[in-house]
Amino acid sequence: MIAHVSDTHLLAGGELQFGAVDTEARLVRALEVLTEVEMPPQAIIVSGDLADRGERAAYVRVKELVEGAASALDASVIWAIGNHDDRATYSEVMFGVASTEPQDRLHDLDGLRIVVLDTTVPGYHHGEIEARQLDWLAEVLSQPAAHGTVLVMHHPPLPIALDRPGQVIELDGQADLSEIVRGSDVRAIVSGHMHYATYGTFAGVPVFTASATCYAMDLAGPGRTYGVRDAAQAIAMLHVFDTCEGLTRDAPVTHTVLPLAVAPLVVETKFSEFARLEKLSHTERRELLSRHRERRELDPAFSDGTES
Ligand SMILES: [Fe+2]
Ligand SMILES: [Fe+2]
Repeated sequence: MIAHVSDTHLLAGGELQFGAVDTEARLVRALEVLTEVEMPPQAIIVSGDLADRGERAAYVRVKELVEGAASALDASVIWAIGNHDDRATYSEVMFGVASTEPQDRLHDLDGLRIVVLDTTVPGYHHGEIEARQLDWLAEVLSQPAAHGTVLVMHHPPLPIALDRPGQVIELDGQADLSEIVRGSDVRAIVSGHMHYATYGTFAGVPVFTASATCYAMDLAGPGRTYGVRDAAQAIAMLHVFDTCEGLTRDAPVTHTVLPLAVAPLVVETKFSEFARLEKLSHTERRELLSRHRERRELDPAFSDGTES
C-alpha cells in the first residue's frame, strides 16, 4: 500500500496561494488522513509541484512535514518533480546535491520497482521527456523487477479531455514513451499536475492522476467557467496486489481516493468492528453484510441489528 500525494504547492513563510489557500494546512491535513487509514502506507509518493514558486524555504518545509509523517508511519518517501519546481533547489534540498539535470530516480520497495521520471521543461509548464531519459528508462525496464514497476511522472501521459485551457500544458512526446512502456513490466503510472483526479490507459497500462492537496480545479463551475476551489482536495492510496481472487500474474493495481474534506459523519463504523467480522466465515459475513436487510431480518439466525 502506497500513499499518493500530489501538488502540495507550498509557499515560503506560510503565504496563502492566491491570497486565499493555506497550502501548508492542506498538506498537514493530508498527512493526518494517512494516520487514519486502516492499512498504513509503506511509502508516500509525492508526485510533483512541491513548491508553488520553487522557493527554498517551501522545500525545507514540505520535506520536514512529509518526512516527519513518513517516519512516524515507518514509510519511505518518493519525491518527484513538477513544473512549478526549481530543479536546482529541489535537488539540493531534497537530495543534498544542487543539480539542473533531469531528476530521474529509482527506488525499490520490497521488489516493487518505482521509477521516477522528470517530465519538466525548465521555465515552462508543459511536459517533455528527453531522448536520453527515454534511453535510460528503456535500459531500466529491460530487466523485469520481482513485482513489476510503477512509473511516477508529474505530467500524466494522457490527453486532457475536459480542461481545454489545460491542453497546452500536457505532456509532449507521448508516442515515444508508449513504445517503451508497452510490453514492459510497468503495472501502473501515477501522476499529478491536473489538480483533479482523472484516470485512463496508456500503452495498455493504467494511469492514475491524483487530485492536489492544495486546491482543486472545478471544470464545471457556475456560468460555464473553469475555476479554482479551496475544496475537493484529495490524496489516494495505491494498492499493488501480489495476488487477488486467485490472480497472481495479473494481480490488480487500485487507486483509492481519500478526500481531505472534514464533513459530518452520518454513519460511523469503528475499525475494531472489523476484527469481530473477521472471526466469521465468508458465508456468515456475506449473510450479515451483503444480504438485503429486510430479507435478513426474516431470518432469526442473522437478525442482530447490524446494518450495512
Ligand atoms: Fe500543480
Ligand atoms: Fe503541475
